[in-house]
Amino acid sequence: MPYGIDNETEEWFKGLEKKLYAKLKTQCLRLGSIMPYVPEHGCYYDMGARELTAWTNGFYAGMLWQMYHAFKEEEFRRAAEGIEERLDAALEEFVKLDHDVGFLWLHTAVADWRLTGNETSRKRGLHAAGILAGRYNPAGHYIRAWNGVRQGVAIVDCLMNLPLLYWAAQENESPAWKQIAIEHTEMALRYILRPDGSSNHMVDFDPETGEYKDNPGGQGYESGSSWSRGQSWAIYGMALAYRYTKNQAYLDAAKRSAHYFMANVSLNDYIPLLDFRAPKEPVYIDTTAGACAACGLLELSEHVGEYEKPLYVQSALRCLKAVQAFCEWDPDKDSILDGGSARYDRASDRQVPIIYGDYFLTEAILRFREKNIFDLVKK
Ligand code: GLY
Repeated sequence: MPYGIDNETEEWFKGLEKKLYAKLKTQCLRLGSIMPYVPEHGCYYDMGARELTAWTNGFYAGMLWQMYHAFKEEEFRRAAEGIEERLDAALEEFVKLDHDVGFLWLHTAVADWRLTGNETSRKRGLHAAGILAGRYNPAGHYIRAWNGVRQGVAIVDCLMNLPLLYWAAQENESPAWKQIAIEHTEMALRYILRPDGSSNHMVDFDPETGEYKDNPGGQGYESGSSWSRGQSWAIYGMALAYRYTKNQAYLDAAKRSAHYFMANVSLNDYIPLLDFRAPKEPVYIDTTAGACAACGLLELSEHVGEYEKPLYVQSALRCLKAVQAFCEWDPDKDSILDGGSARYDRASDRQVPIIYGDYFLTEAILRFREKNIFDLVKK
């Protein structure tokens, strides 16, 4: 096993894989090519019909491609292709898109291209990468996050969008796109990640001069706090930056973020609080941060030496074991992982099942089963 787990743990993952297969096969046949976000009254609705450019609309297809890669069953592929085709209308409406084109097209078109060699998918991925590169602001060396008046804002989440640029730079022989990803990563090291391993969510620059203004509060409790999913984006995003650049500073940053995350979750039985620096009450948790961090820790473990690896693998395992208590494996019910929170200040999607929690849970299980789609990137 690449992660060096013992036989008992391997058996546990085999059991999880069976539950995952039963759940997602039935769900896939029931739902078709919809784009779920959060279930309403226990059932998924189609977020794609309500808001086609929503940043979460690629995750379900990402799960389906992971399952197609693992089990080679056409139902998964057909449903994922349907979502990818539906997203073409979002590319046409590109003025509404933001930096989350990475989340949208890495898990759809780029996954398709890697698995099937579909040339149309490759073009979709390159088109999305062009949109992401076009958001780069050379004055402040950052990729602009959102649209509207927030022209100077960059956020930690964007580290997860950058693999679209690394991929496209290779595909298109366009080193400039890789350079943009590197510039944004350097900016994040300087202005978003903190020296103690914690992370801001946001940084705000003057968009004309590039001058640093401040770090406003974001989806966590307040400015200066520590939004747990942001921490998990930092672990995974910096580990991915290392994957594509081999810059030791990025690996070290991923380690600092990981150590900070591990220390904090160890105080709460490995269930992340929504924010690690918030008042004791009310207690809000976010299981999506645990699932995402598990994937980031596994990614990190692949870039360290033999004797360092168990620290990250065992911590990922603890995160995954902890969130099992929140999993609904009944195939006739929509969604798997409960206890996910989109942001601190919004009750409607706080401590509920959220599609990206299911995506990262799926990825983590398949990573441990050596069936992860990312294995294709290594080849
Ligand atoms: N990218 C937005 C979030 O993590 O909620």
